[in-house]
Amino acid sequence: MKNLFIETYGCQMNFADSEVLTSILGSSYKAIQDYKQADLILINTCSIRDHAEQRVLHRLSEFAAIKKSRPQVRIGIVGCMAERLKEELLNSGLSVDLVAGPDSYRKLPELLDLVNCGKEAIDTLLSEEETYHDILPVRLGNNKVSAFVSIMRGCQNYCAYCVVPYTRGKERSRDPESIISEVKDLLEKGYKEVTLLGQNVNSYKHTDTKSGSVVNFSLLMDKVASINPLLRIRFATSHPKDLSDELLEVMSKHPNICRAIHLPVQSGSSRMLKEMKRKYDRDWYLNRITAIRHHLPDCAISTDIIAGFCSETEEDHQQTLALMKEVGYEFAFMFKYSERPGTFASKFYKDDVPEATKLRRLNEIIDLQQSLSLESNRRDIGHTFEILTEGISKKNQEQYYGRNSQNKVIVFDKPISGPISNLHIGTYLSVKVKDCTAATLIGEIV
Ligand code: 5AD
Ligand code: SF4
Repeated sequence: MKNLFIETYGCQMNFADSEVLTSILGSSYKAIQDYKQADLILINTCSIRDHAEQRVLHRLSEFAAIKKSRPQVRIGIVGCMAERLKEELLNSGLSVDLVAGPDSYRKLPELLDLVNCGKEAIDTLLSEEETYHDILPVRLGNNKVSAFVSIMRGCQNYCAYCVVPYTRGKERSRDPESIISEVKDLLEKGYKEVTLLGQNVNSYKHTDTKSGSVVNFSLLMDKVASINPLLRIRFATSHPKDLSDELLEVMSKHPNICRAIHLPVQSGSSRMLKEMKRKYDRDWYLNRITAIRHHLPDCAISTDIIAGFCSETEEDHQQTLALMKEVGYEFAFMFKYSERPGTFASKFYKDDVPEATKLRRLNEIIDLQQSLSLESNRRDIGHTFEILTEGISKKNQEQYYGRNSQNKVIVFDKPISGPISNLHIGTYLSVKVKDCTAATLIGEIV
């Protein structure tokens, strides 16, 4: 067996893909943790913002340096940057031997044979069918409690700012039977939580070619949640346009579907949402929030926000801040707009918000979210939650950490008697919140 080192950037989907491609290479390569011992180094890359690509290029030059002492090492770029930059990567002078896009992972063994014969190895063909449905991923995460299960690939929403439809191709849904058998396999291996993944999970729709029967996301969730009430189910990411009442009803029926919805809003201004081609406006979004609160009163809501998209005015920005307060998000991922080549915005709009203004708006958004997160956490003080224990706290070796259904991290002391041990990892415990910061709840076992 040869040694494979894989480093993953970007979204959860990429982390799931790294597990798929490790499985595909499994007959010849085993995954290791130290790149200096590797025969093959793969970087699974992200193109969503320029910053993500720059990080990868920097890291690539570090990896390339080890070829001086070990010229036999092979370096591959896979994922979104591979898809976007194609041959450019082979010709970059950065010692890249192999380039494979997100739909080309089955070809990796062949591509490596080409490299070993001294030939160019590149495949960036996108597929309309590939879902890797039959590949059982090799779990690379070090906690054996929670795992990702990819249920669909691609995106065809073409939001004006976003490179994903170009790097990951058309939307396609994996067949439900293969999803269910992967979840059952995880359960048998002792996993307690699965996160169903896709660029827009709630537009999941699979039609059986023989019977014509259709499974949508609500039905899939119903099936997955029914496998075992002790298995927690999460999902990411949802698009507001497809967040149906039917899904909320299924969630309310199954306590093991976690009370946390990630619903990227991007902007609070209907004018900006139209420019962004998001297919909903502020009122539609707020109506979906009302529906969540109605069906799932204890549901945490998180979001993604972009500051300083093309033509964004101060008024638009104020509407984003006002919407954040109105929703009272538990958590948010917040970004400065970064123009991506090939997108609608890069072709037809001007990236005209000055960098300093983008940064100032982003900081205002971050500061507001910080106070909203703190407020939300303070409301939890005195409440008791069922926690799935995930591990021993990195900051304090005498404490465990876990998550509640709302996806909030909670740290708590070990039980009064007995040493801290792996015994509690993967178990459900009742924990009462005593204190908090904006990022973490602090509790005690009850
Ligand atoms: N610039 C900044 N943020 C972006 N996102 C997507 N494209 C861009 C871009 N060009 C953000 C969106 C999306 C998240 C995954 O990344 O908020 O929801
Ligand atoms: Fe990008 Fe929009 Fe698709 Fe999300 S829904 S991946 S933001 S194009």
